[in-house]
Amino acid sequence: MNTPSPLALVIFGASGDLTKRKLIPAIYQLFIQKRLPKKFILLGASRTQYTDEEYREKMTEFLPKEEFHCTKQFLQHIFYQAIQTDQQEDYPILKERLESLCQTNEVEQNYIFYLSTPPSLYPIIPKHLSSVGLNNEENGFSRLIVEKPFGTDLESALSLNNLLTQYFNENQIYRIDHYLGKETVQNLLVLRFANAIFEPIWNRNFIERVEITSAESLGVESRGGYYDKSGALKDMIQNHLLQLVGLVAMEPPIEVEADAIRNEVLKVFKAFKHFSSEEEIRNNVIRGQYTSSHISGKEVKGYRQEEGVDKNSRTETFAAIKFYINNWRWSNTPFYIRTGKKLPTRVTEVVIHFKNSPHHLFSGGIELPQINNQLIIRIQPDEGILMKFGMKEPGSGFVTQPVNMDFHYDSLSNKHLPSAYERLLLDCMIGDATLYSRGDTVIEAWKFVKPIQEYWKKEEAPIYGYPAGTWGPYEADSLIEGNEQTWRYPCKNLSNDGLYCEL
Ligand code: BG6
Repeated sequence: MNTPSPLALVIFGASGDLTKRKLIPAIYQLFIQKRLPKKFILLGASRTQYTDEEYREKMTEFLPKEEFHCTKQFLQHIFYQAIQTDQQEDYPILKERLESLCQTNEVEQNYIFYLSTPPSLYPIIPKHLSSVGLNNEENGFSRLIVEKPFGTDLESALSLNNLLTQYFNENQIYRIDHYLGKETVQNLLVLRFANAIFEPIWNRNFIERVEITSAESLGVESRGGYYDKSGALKDMIQNHLLQLVGLVAMEPPIEVEADAIRNEVLKVFKAFKHFSSEEEIRNNVIRGQYTSSHISGKEVKGYRQEEGVDKNSRTETFAAIKFYINNWRWSNTPFYIRTGKKLPTRVTEVVIHFKNSPHHLFSGGIELPQINNQLIIRIQPDEGILMKFGMKEPGSGFVTQPVNMDFHYDSLSNKHLPSAYERLLLDCMIGDATLYSRGDTVIEAWKFVKPIQEYWKKEEAPIYGYPAGTWGPYEADSLIEGNEQTWRYPCKNLSNDGLYCEL
């Protein structure tokens, strides 16, 4: 296991929500797992005036209360510098503070700058960092972590990419997609490429369709203001879901190395068949918005009644897409992806539907529904793998019934499962960008969603309502090709499915 060299992590947006909820707890976990270098500085930078002590006090709230001794030690590594992040004049102050902290704490000049600010500052901060030479790597490394969203459309992503690469080289830029940091997402690579049994059947000859669902039971909560300008396509599909498609569909990389893997993902993205007419989009892309309903006897608000949301909003809280990957492996194999808020349960999973057996030996001459072999890769929760196949029902004759074979990740060991942010932060400290999105793949993903974004701007583009707590608009079901075929409706537990189950 690599341990990072001594370093300073500067978090811009130090009192923001992401810093408190995700970053500080993740860095603390790394600290108690002894994965951080002994000499380590965390410098928070924001507009608000705090002393180091006040900032530490504020961060304590987000650390486990019962581990008082550890948290006290951890807090010694935390410092704070108030700066106007959008003002170039303040950057010499930041630089001076960083250098003096590094000197007194005997930390080498290895810097990571984490942009956890509103996206409008993403192009500004790197420019100001470069104005004081904090982007150069003469005395140590200088890396930049950029949070999502990376642009809001193709043009803005291209321009952000151009700006960033004026000041930092591509190998210094780490674009976060926290889905890639999830253990079970990485396990997809292991499942596919450490086992020889799957690869021969992982293609159009044996797979009928691939389905990826990322459902959330929560609504937009307090993020209505942000979400109403975004929607499911930008918030989840352009990044998280397409990255999952990349890992499911890619060719075996030649090695486990950042560019080897990301080159393969790029090839998949480049092979996406783009929608070329409005009719194609209408027939293959469904968007929906949750409406008020009752869940477990309680009245639940519709999206348009949420705080910060326009009363006539046409922002989608659900999106489902059927599309193809134009390459040798996947020619004519439909990929279905869907995501939504206020669905019945929180679940992310990949379902590989295999083709039926070619000869219906056990149907007794009657047209019976075939056993549909499925491999389900559960990303969250109840992480694991489930295989569905046909077995003989005990008794006379040959009546078949579908059965499950399941493996649950938590049965592997009681080892600490790192959160996505722990894994990603540590990787950046080590200099491993494998689980970060590369600029060219992000741009390709925007190219794919562009025609959909443009069509949805039109008044006549339909948006369907669905009652909160259901599996999205009825129209999404009809996307799936084939008689009586539909999505898998997963439950909280990996091995259960169906429209009705424990939530
Ligand atoms: C974020 C989106 O990127 O991912 C949120 O902005 C979404 O809207 C979240 O809720 C889902 O992440 P996870 O890890 O809870 O599946």
